[in-house]
Order: sequence, then structure tokens, then C-alpha cells
Amino acid sequence: CGIVGYIGESDAKEILLKGLERLEYRGYDSAGIAVRNTDGVTVFKEKGRIADLRAEVDLNVEAVTGIGHTRWATHGVPNHVNAHPHQSTTERFTLVHNGVIENYHHLQRDYLEGVEMQSDTDTEIIVQLIERFSKQGLSTREAFTKTLELLKGSYALALLDAEEAQTIYVAKNKSPLLVGLGEEFNVVASDAMAMLQVTDQFVELMDKEIVIVNKESVEIYTLEGERIHRQPFTAEIDMNDIEKGTYPHYMLKEIDEQPAVVRRIIQNYQDENDELTIEQDVLEALKQADRLYIIAAGTSYHAGLIGKEYIEKMAQIPVEVHIASEFGYNMPLLSEKPLFIFISQSGETADSRQVLVKVKELGHPALTITNVAGSTLSREADYTLLLHAGPEIAVASTKAYTAQLAVMAILSSVTAKAKGIDIGFDLEQELSIAANAIQTQVDDKENMEDIAREYLAVTRNCFFIGRNVDYYVGLEGALKLKEISYIQAEGFAGGELKHGTIALIEEGTPVIALATQEAVNLNIRGNVKEVAARGAYPCIISMEGLAEEGDRLVLPRVHELLTPIVSVIPLQLISYYAALHRDCDVDKPRNLAKSVTVE
Ligand code: G6P
Repeated sequence: CGIVGYIGESDAKEILLKGLERLEYRGYDSAGIAVRNTDGVTVFKEKGRIADLRAEVDLNVEAVTGIGHTRWATHGVPNHVNAHPHQSTTERFTLVHNGVIENYHHLQRDYLEGVEMQSDTDTEIIVQLIERFSKQGLSTREAFTKTLELLKGSYALALLDAEEAQTIYVAKNKSPLLVGLGEEFNVVASDAMAMLQVTDQFVELMDKEIVIVNKESVEIYTLEGERIHRQPFTAEIDMNDIEKGTYPHYMLKEIDEQPAVVRRIIQNYQDENDELTIEQDVLEALKQADRLYIIAAGTSYHAGLIGKEYIEKMAQIPVEVHIASEFGYNMPLLSEKPLFIFISQSGETADSRQVLVKVKELGHPALTITNVAGSTLSREADYTLLLHAGPEIAVASTKAYTAQLAVMAILSSVTAKAKGIDIGFDLEQELSIAANAIQTQVDDKENMEDIAREYLAVTRNCFFIGRNVDYYVGLEGALKLKEISYIQAEGFAGGELKHGTIALIEEGTPVIALATQEAVNLNIRGNVKEVAARGAYPCIISMEGLAEEGDRLVLPRVHELLTPIVSVIPLQLISYYAALHRDCDVDKPRNLAKSVTVE
């Protein structure tokens, strides 16, 4: 979910709606805004997208103060009633909330007996608590503070009081939130991107602070009431990076950017002698560790699987890769000197963050590899390596994945060098070759569209097989296809398919096979024959030097370890065109959110 707020002199509705459009990547099940003027607070909310909300908003309501929310449903189905903002019974207080309150049942039982709830959400409990305490004689600030003291869980909150025109009350815990500063106005947003059209000056908020935002001032306090002074920072995001330009979809734009992203990463990780490098303290941490634990979710997890190959093969440090939501609650036996590596495009994924919190409690060092400087996972880890991929807007991750692979390859080779290990090739040169190879793939769109039409136009399922790193790329290919085309797709280790899943192969079932690894080339081709003999319709993607007649796509030759950076590109494009053929919403697939800030 994402939240915004505005207090100033301009039309609040428009600024809030624009802000929410920029936050739509955080969820788009339902959305709402509340604006305040001399008549009090007016709430507009709607199930669906911001565009649907926009159509609902009465343009005649003039207001210079308001808050807004776009939702990814957790508690309560996505409908009008459960959409934010939520109001207290008397409608004096209006609240937007991002996060999950864990103890809301207890709070309701202990403090809100007799209060009739209008929604199924944990958020309504918060706003009702504030009203309850205010009725007991507390000022709004006191009631807000008392409520915050009781909440367990994650939240980013913005509160309006109908009796107080000059203020938005704000607080956060474990969910991201920034305050943006302007001349005669101030704003609140889950992400700087939402408010870039009005300001690039932002102040970071820390957990369990209470912030009083007026038109002219922003005052930050601890819950104990101590005033905190914090300097703003400049959000360095280029507006061009967050516009679609002439592209029909962000996803296609972001796929196309990948050669440039890989080249930019090389540049950003070069020292003055053009040698690849990473910061000394990160390098030291890597050298000290006896085992690395990569923690991630979704696409970033798939990148982590390949990262393990890179680190083990180049830097020769053992690596375990774990799904964040599992690791935190079922920790394996750790080595003596572990280093944790969090991979996250957004740097906000709550599943990963809960692990980071536990890791810090245990006193272990942590490195975050993320696309977003200043994100929660970056701030809370000891070290950060940035992806330099530019903002990724499409929900399905593409350029962040290739960037993650490139950065992990660099990390691995630099660590190898520092340990005196000769990796036997020039990574910088090989990455440049890979960037050129990516270019050939993004230039081959017509072919990708043909493949999508031929294999995926009508099928209900699809399998991706591969061995070694091709297996991991297949997992990512399957995820891409599922996410945006809703075709049931699964990635399998080539040799494992026959141990059960082959039962699902029917006449015409598409099987996309990756064959880029010399050592297992014959094996994967054998696996293709097994499925073809049972009626599957195989599509082999191979690489120069390993190609055979009948391969549907032959990638330019790149270093064997770097094939994932190239072979994933056709899979991204095939998924894109499959989704287009099926009339799916490519950039905003159903049920998903780009940044999932709840566990
Ligand atoms: C969400 C997105 C996925 C993404 C995952 C991890 O579920 O829909 O596309 O891979 O989160 O996100 P992160 O920002 O941590 O890489």
C-alpha cells in the first residue's frame, strides 16, 4: 500500500491523485482520498485503480489539505467499505494506513467495546482508538501518541482532525514514510517519487516518531515528546526515468533499458584505473565471512540463486539462498561467521525486513543489494551495494533482475581478486559482451512476438526446463509468465521433471528449454526428447557454439557464467507479448503489488 498527504495552498485533490498514481505500483485494489475544507472532511474512495477513484472525485470540492491511500488488500476484501481513508464514528478523525496491526483484535476488545465498526480493517481500530482517547479528554496529539504506544505491527499513518485545519499528524513503524518540504506547503509520501512533481526535498522519518505537519512547518518528536531536528535530503530521481515516454508499457521500456543498465553498472563499479571495485568495508566483510546467507523474495530470490553460483565459483565462499518469509521463522543452523546479503529491488519488502531485524538482533553483519538508495533495507543493513538500474515501475521485475546479477558478478570477482583467486577471465570485458548480447535480444522483438503467439496464445500452462543456471533462469521465466499473462507456468530442473511433473505433459503442452550450459547440453536435450515423446511442444533456446538444428532461438555466445543475464531477456519479452495477446494489464497484473510492505 502507499500513502500521501498534502497541506498548503494549492488544489489538494489533484496533488493527492497524482501522487497516488505514482504509488500505484504499491497496490491497486482500491484507493481513496480525504480532503479538508471549511465544511469539514470529505472522503472519496473506490474499488479498483486510481483512474476509477479519479472519476469518483467531485471536482467542485475545494480543499488545500488532504490525505490519500492506494491499497493492496491484507485485512478485508478489496471493496469500497474496506478502502482507505477510514473514519471514526463521529467522523472527526480520518486516517490512512500502510502496514498491518498485529494486535488489533486485542485492542478492539480492550478499548473499543460498544463501538460499531464499519469495515473489516485493522486500520479502523486505530482511528477509533484515537477518537476514544480524545473523548476521554486528551488532545489529538496526546490521543495519537497514546494510540501509537499501543500498536504492535507495522504502520505508516497520516491523520486528519476535522476540528484542526492546520495539521496532518504522521507516524511510522517498519513501513516507509517521508515528509516532503515546499514553500508554503508540505507533503507526506510512502515514496519520494509520489511527490517529485512538487518537491525534491525530503526528510526521513524514523520508527516511532510523531510528526506534526503544517503548511509552514514540520515538527518531529519522539513518542516521549522530545523534539528532533533532521536535515532534509535531495531526492535524486530524474523525472524522465519515471515517465513511459513513447513506450506502450513501462515493462517494455524497462526491458529495453537493460543493455544500458549493465553498462552503467560497470561504470559505477569502476575505480579510477577502470578496474572493477566495491567499497573496502564491504569487501572486508565478505572476506571475513565463512558463509554467506542470501535472503530475498520473488524475482530477487531467483537472482540470489544465480548469485550463489557466482560467489561460490568465483570467490569460493559457501553460500545459502533462502526465501525471506521462510528464513525468519525457521532459521537454519548458522555458521560461525555469517554475512547476510539481502537482495531487494525496492529495499522495502517486509518479508526480507523481518529477517534483517532478527539478524541484527543476533549481531550479524548484513549487506543489502538494492535499487533504492535510502530504502529501509539499505538504511538498516551495515552495507549497501546499489543496482543503478533507475526506477523500475512495471510490477514484473526485469531490469532490476539483470542488474542484481551484474552486481553480484562484480562482487564475486572483486572478492576473488582480493582473496588472490584467479577467476580465469576478465569480468568487465565479459559483462560488456553480455550487454551487447542483450541488445541483440531486445532488437529481436518481432521474433519474440512470433514465439509468444506460436506457443502461448491459447495454452493454459507452460513448463520451463534447464539445468544448472538455466534451471534458475527458467524459474524466473516461469514467474514472469505467470505474473503478467496468468498462464500457469512452472520452472523445473531438466532432470527432475520426469520424477512426477511429466504427468502433466499433454499433446501440445509448451516446454521452453534453455540450453546454454556446455556441461549439461546433452542432458537437457535428452530431457527435451523425453517430453517431446509425450506430446510436448518444445521451444529450445540455446547459445552459439551449442546450437543444434531446430533450436528456436540461438543467443550470441557469452561467458558461461553470464548466460543468465542474456537468456532471461527472451523470456521477459515472450511473457510480455503473451500477456499482450491475452489482453492482460502488463504493468499492473491482478492481485500483485510491486513493493509488498506487509508480511
Ligand atoms: C513483490 C513483487 C515481485 C518482487 C518481490 C520482491 O512480490 O511483485 O516482483 O520480486 O516483491 O521484491 P523486492 O523489491 O524485494 O525485490
